[in-house]
Amino acid sequence: MDFHIVIDRYLEIDKYTFMPNSVLIESADGEKRGITEMNAVMKSTSSHQPALVGGPKSVPDNRPEVFTWPIVTTEDEQAVLNVLRSGKMSGWDITKEFEREFACWQGTSFALASCNGTSSLLEAMFGVGIGRGDELIMPSLTYWASGLQAFAMGATPVFADVDRQTLCIDPADIEHRITPQTRAIMVVHYCGHPCEMDAILEIASRHHLKVIEDVSHAHGGFYKGRKLGTFGDVSAMSMMSGKSFAIGEGGMLCTNDRVIYERAVAFGHYERHDELTLPTLQAGAGLPWGGIKGRLNQTCAAMGRVQLKYYDQRIAVLQSAMNRFWDLAEGIPGIRPHRTPPNSNSTMGGWYNPLAHYCPEELGGLPVETFITALQAEGVRSARGAHLPLHFHSLLNEIDVYHDGRPTRLAGSARDVRQPRGSLPVSEQVAARTFGVPAFKQDDPEYIRRCVDAFQKVAHQASELRDAKKLM
Ligand SMILES: Cc1ncc(COP(=O)(O)O)c(C=O)c1O
Repeated sequence: MDFHIVIDRYLEIDKYTFMPNSVLIESADGEKRGITEMNAVMKSTSSHQPALVGGPKSVPDNRPEVFTWPIVTTEDEQAVLNVLRSGKMSGWDITKEFEREFACWQGTSFALASCNGTSSLLEAMFGVGIGRGDELIMPSLTYWASGLQAFAMGATPVFADVDRQTLCIDPADIEHRITPQTRAIMVVHYCGHPCEMDAILEIASRHHLKVIEDVSHAHGGFYKGRKLGTFGDVSAMSMMSGKSFAIGEGGMLCTNDRVIYERAVAFGHYERHDELTLPTLQAGAGLPWGGIKGRLNQTCAAMGRVQLKYYDQRIAVLQSAMNRFWDLAEGIPGIRPHRTPPNSNSTMGGWYNPLAHYCPEELGGLPVETFITALQAEGVRSARGAHLPLHFHSLLNEIDVYHDGRPTRLAGSARDVRQPRGSLPVSEQVAARTFGVPAFKQDDPEYIRRCVDAFQKVAHQASELRDAKKLM
């Protein structure tokens, strides 16, 4: 009897590639005689072979203009030049204009500029009253300057774990860490993702704790329709060149609380002590209470004023690009977006350092390093993205910075607040379960589509990459 083989179902490998998933064996009269699953039987054709193992690149063209940031025009150049020519780099007039405009944009009563974000965060800590022996609850997954300044105040950080999806401090891991020494919670809107502010504010209010927001990754972002940096008692942020809101070097503190603002002025801005109205602060006017000088260089303030005019429209473009990327990438195995849900009224601001969640179990255990290397070989900008947890570092465990005879982490504490490996499981896994995706600044649909094709190709050929990796 004659038989022939008919393709029964196709498996979609990517948008260009379908391969037979199962075949039917039919006799000439149409009688079905058997079915054979073909899953993973066919090898990829050469055009679908990952570039890492000899296939063609998905994104052959290098497009630096799609990634250029900050956007600097002749308007920025002229503003900076004017400061240089006037010799007013160390003045206050342009900085105060910048602060006024920034406070208006941010929606807070006060904005105080500093030479960097580290300094603004230090002033915020002093502003809310952190001092000797206090504990500051913060995430371990962040840049050190979210909280290491606590050491300089005789205080100590206590780390809470982060939420698996948002990568921001997990409200469910805060409360059991609160002690009579806890003074404040430092939240970080990590890589642009807003923290769960409703739950955090509720905990803080029940325990009479201050909330400080580190907005260094999330300028212009929203949580449920309200701007990040307006939830806490005070917010502070970096504006260094790599940030979404970038002015060269600089920091900004924002608050609605006059006491916090004036304490910050007292701490690091002795030339502005004429602004102090609180008698306790006036009594110490003339010298900076923190023994530091936080003044911003006015070339940066001038650039900041120009950047602020265009910031919202520029981040609208990049938000559209990043959301386009993730909408197209929906359903690719092994990766999930680190972004706010659509229509949630929460946004990722300037999408600082955009990340993907990586699920190696969906890709046969392919390590994230190989996935990244394969994307790079395709011509896609990708790299490791997340910080190593702070609680691993010797500075948070052993180092005695100020000659107290014990680790500085413990110097002001009645108890051992150190947190060994294993104590913050989600934070500790983030490096292996995330990676950086291209930070598109321009919305070029065709280019973005090609990048997504590269992700498709790499994810669908994970087994080939894994086998090739073993032979390398
Ligand atoms: C989350 C976070 N906080 C604070 C800072 C410190 O800011 P700066 O470098 O301007 O001192 C940075 C980055 O630089 C940061 O990423």
